[in-house]
Amino acid sequence: MGGVGAVVVAAGRGDRFGAPKQFCVLHGVRLVDRAVSACAAVSDEVVVVLPPGTEWDGPPVAAAVEGGDTRSASVRAGLAALHGDHEIVIVHDAARPLATRTLFDAVVAAVRAGADAAVPGVAVADTLKRVEGGRVAETVDRRGLVAVQTPQAFRADALRAAHATGGDATDDAALVEAAGGVVVVVSGEATNFKVTEPADLERAAALLDQGCR
Ligand code: CTP
Ligand code: MG
Repeated sequence: MGGVGAVVVAAGRGDRFGAPKQFCVLHGVRLVDRAVSACAAVSDEVVVVLPPGTEWDGPPVAAAVEGGDTRSASVRAGLAALHGDHEIVIVHDAARPLATRTLFDAVVAAVRAGADAAVPGVAVADTLKRVEGGRVAETVDRRGLVAVQTPQAFRADALRAAHATGGDATDDAALVEAAGGVVVVVSGEATNFKVTEPADLERAAALLDQGCR
């Protein structure tokens, strides 16, 4: 079976958090280190993408490179630094510290089974409304809608082709979809939320305190 490469994107500014949250410590381990270790457990080569001027001082990686202004640009920087001839590439947010091994295995298995990409999705619980100018324009039917997480796994050539256009999207699967690729959804994990605001880090710590992860 072909190899697996992984890109951990950790080059964000953390505007909503108020600091580059990927370097915050959760139960003694930084979020970025958790993401790198989780990827290393399932990959042959891990590249971490960092903010400009940041020295890498975490677990061993094949390369640490500088990110770009957007998440997509950071993924492209990571892809360019991934040297192995991998069959599969995983992209994972440094800001998701609680993704399980089971979830990594599930997205990789779905690509091995033939998909161009596999993403974790969780059903949306809240009612969704489209708002225009402070006023509700419509209530969106949430049937069939899922909130999408990382890790996302890709057929390496599908991901590289999708990024070759230099497009920008909040996740990589969107670029593969736009290129006509087959993207499948596996069951995501409620505990695999993205640390976006300080309260999210407290929630993650509380889950670890309770032994939920
Ligand atoms: N990311 C990145 N390069 C960017 C923007 C984001 O590598 N130019 C990474 C972040 O470090 C994070 C992941 O992409 O691990 C998800 O992005 P997000 O949660 O939006 O993080 P930030 O962009 O840092 O936060 P904010 O949007 O609040 O500024
Ligand atoms: Mg962002």
